[in-house]
Amino acid sequence: MEIIILPTAGEAVGEAARRVMETVRRRPATVLGLATGRTMEGIYRLLVEAGRAGRVDFSGVTTFNLDEYLGPERNDPRTFRSYMNTRLFDHIGLNPDRIHIPDSHPADVEEECLRYEAAIEKAGGIDLQLLGIGREGHIAFNEPSSSLGARTRVKTLTETTLRDNFEEGEGIRFAITMGIGTIMEAREILLVALGESKARVISETVEGPVSAACPASALQFHPRAKIILDEAAAGRLERRDYYKWVFAHKREAESIGRRSE
Ligand code: GLP
Repeated sequence: MEIIILPTAGEAVGEAARRVMETVRRRPATVLGLATGRTMEGIYRLLVEAGRAGRVDFSGVTTFNLDEYLGPERNDPRTFRSYMNTRLFDHIGLNPDRIHIPDSHPADVEEECLRYEAAIEKAGGIDLQLLGIGREGHIAFNEPSSSLGARTRVKTLTETTLRDNFEEGEGIRFAITMGIGTIMEAREILLVALGESKARVISETVEGPVSAACPASALQFHPRAKIILDEAAAGRLERRDYYKWVFAHKREAESIGRRSE
């Protein structure tokens, strides 16, 4: 794992956006895995700005979102589809045929999960997957106790997740989500976490045991997982100074031609 700690949330978000843009510039037909939540909003704002200014061209990119609430109609403002349309898709010139999000209101839920997995496979797999993290250790909607080998399926959301995402009584309880097994197949992963409220879960993810009790900890097995943090989210990492030392020396290590992680 590569732990990248930056002084402010703005710098952390900027670092993540820069890495996404670099990937797309290098490979215009990149398959991007996308996440939702407040953490992603700043990243999407920077991508939209760069797209509008012509600094990066997203027209060849294929996208797969991690998850979607189950139940609401597709155009319901609570869906991740609506979130993505407003914050990114309506502004960066993606080809609509190459945008993928699980259907929030499918005729057959199981069929929809299989279809989603097959679409990822058909696209050649995900090159770069963006991730946020829930306070209890979920990535996408793989809540605590999720199998670390699971594929796309329906999950029941925890009360914490519902409280973090909805006003009371909104009636959503379930989501279709890529499994940890699906996410681990992405060729590169960028997890971004900001603020003190994520400090505990980040220490469990990075320095705790790999456990279904904290599904994000499975990333310890990923060969190219980068964890981008602001100081507040890194606040409980015991080896914080070491991670900063590694990051500061990474360029030097690369220039003498050895692998640094
Ligand atoms: C939702 C999403 C997750 C995201 C999490 C964190 O639960 N399904 O993919 O990581 O929110 O959200 P935030 O960035 O708002 O803390």
